[in-house]
Amino acid sequence: MINKVRNICCIGAGYVGGPTMAVFADKCPNLNIFVVDKNKQRVDAWNSEDLTKLPIFERGLDKLISKRRGKNLHFSDNFKKYISEADMIFISVNTPTKTKGLGAGKASDLKWVEASSREIAEYAQGETIVVEKSTLPVKTAQTIKSILDESQSINKDKKFTVLSNPEFLAEGSAIADLEFPDRVLIGGDNLDSINALVNIYLNWIPKDKIITTDLWSSELSKLTANAFLAQRISSINSISALCERTGANIKDVSLAIGTDKRIGKEFLNAGPGFGGSCFKKDILNLVYIYDYYGLHHEAKYWEKVVEINDWQKKRISNLIIEKLFGTVSGKKIAILGFSFKANTNDTRESPAISICKELINEGGNLFVYDPKVSHEQIRIDLNLPEARQEQDLNEGSWSYATSISEAIKSSDAIVIITEWEEFKYLNWKEIKSKMRNPSWIFDTRSIINICEAEKYGLKVWSVGKGSQNISNF
Ligand code: UDX
Ligand code: ADP
Repeated sequence: MINKVRNICCIGAGYVGGPTMAVFADKCPNLNIFVVDKNKQRVDAWNSEDLTKLPIFERGLDKLISKRRGKNLHFSDNFKKYISEADMIFISVNTPTKTKGLGAGKASDLKWVEASSREIAEYAQGETIVVEKSTLPVKTAQTIKSILDESQSINKDKKFTVLSNPEFLAEGSAIADLEFPDRVLIGGDNLDSINALVNIYLNWIPKDKIITTDLWSSELSKLTANAFLAQRISSINSISALCERTGANIKDVSLAIGTDKRIGKEFLNAGPGFGGSCFKKDILNLVYIYDYYGLHHEAKYWEKVVEINDWQKKRISNLIIEKLFGTVSGKKIAILGFSFKANTNDTRESPAISICKELINEGGNLFVYDPKVSHEQIRIDLNLPEARQEQDLNEGSWSYATSISEAIKSSDAIVIITEWEEFKYLNWKEIKSKMRNPSWIFDTRSIINICEAEKYGLKVWSVGKGSQNISNF
């Protein structure tokens, strides 16, 4: 079996593959790493001289790319060559929720994983360790294995082992998460292959942080970790609604419960609902698996986490409409933040999408500003062309704003959806002078200084902040 890995190929140059391989290349200068993607445009962007054109925005990523690219880190669309030369191949392709067919709306669509497995089966040479990195439903390794076993049985020169090595990085802090992970999880049934991957990680991760398990437990752990994190957010969001009704403050409640070390303080920020490519998809995968095994009560338990998340978004758009006298028709609303969280340009499952769609459906004219999300991405997500001229501002439209001041000018309301740093310390005096009366701020992240905004006559709704005037029941 392979005891020295030299050449690595990573299939998929996305949010997982790109940053992960950049850190691998930096920490292991002796490895040659080739990241391949079928999307030529994406590969070109990774190879762009201008580092602001990288397809992904992550703090510190540009530095790593400029340090390692062309040395031991390469981006290419030539699968055949780099798969055939690799000792170890990572599969980091996308696995969205199926939109049609069996398991639609719940199960992951594995067509890209299957396609990558077939590419590996066809082009790999000799002994190859295949590592699944994408977030995948339990037992996907089995699918990969079956495809590879078949090719192995036809061509005796090919030998494959499959490992699961789920990625726990969070977008926005991907590089730090990869450099200093809480743990590295490796699942597999071939000790030599497990050790080959452990040896790579040992270049920068202490041994006691590397957990090895069987394939299935590793895959299930990834889904469970995301489900638990998402469950915390739905729990705190459900308490935020109660705070608003009864006059409590969610920030105080989060602080108070978070100091209990059994609960812990992370992931207790109430907000507009969780987004991102993983949480919803992973819970729906769990639900699908439970249902498959006839565990319908357990499936319902997890399904509720997603339902509460959807409700939080709907609850927020409803209350915006209610507070603006029951209608947003023809009103100008500034949307601050479109990415699913701060420090990323990713909009997948962003709560901004559904909140904006609801407000547009109700006739609002939205002016959307986000420091990192492109104009084109917002158009795709809202599935609506932009209103470019004043005369295009029909009831129910959106326009792209290049600055906060452009977004808020003559607006009736500001809705803060992403917790970008630049939205935390706004000049409320100046803002008030540019808005129409009454001027509303809807702070779905609870990041602004409410007293300061109210001092200048703004009306503020902040998630989970009940009014002290509410009489107790
Ligand atoms: C998540 C997991 O954290 C990561 O381990 C896994 O590999 C991929 O999925 P990510 O989706 O990048 O990472 O972001 P995360 O920081 O977990 O946030 C997910 C969503 O929850 C965001 O929309 C965020 O705004 C929201 N969130 C997070 C809250 O609303 N409140 C919190 O307290 C924390
Ligand atoms: P993730 O967040 O899981 O990294 P992304 O969508 O950001 O997901 O990236 C996945 C990448 O995988 C995309 O750039 C896509 O073009 C690429 N990809 C999908 N299927 C294949 C395949 N069979 N071969 C090569 N690349 C693929």
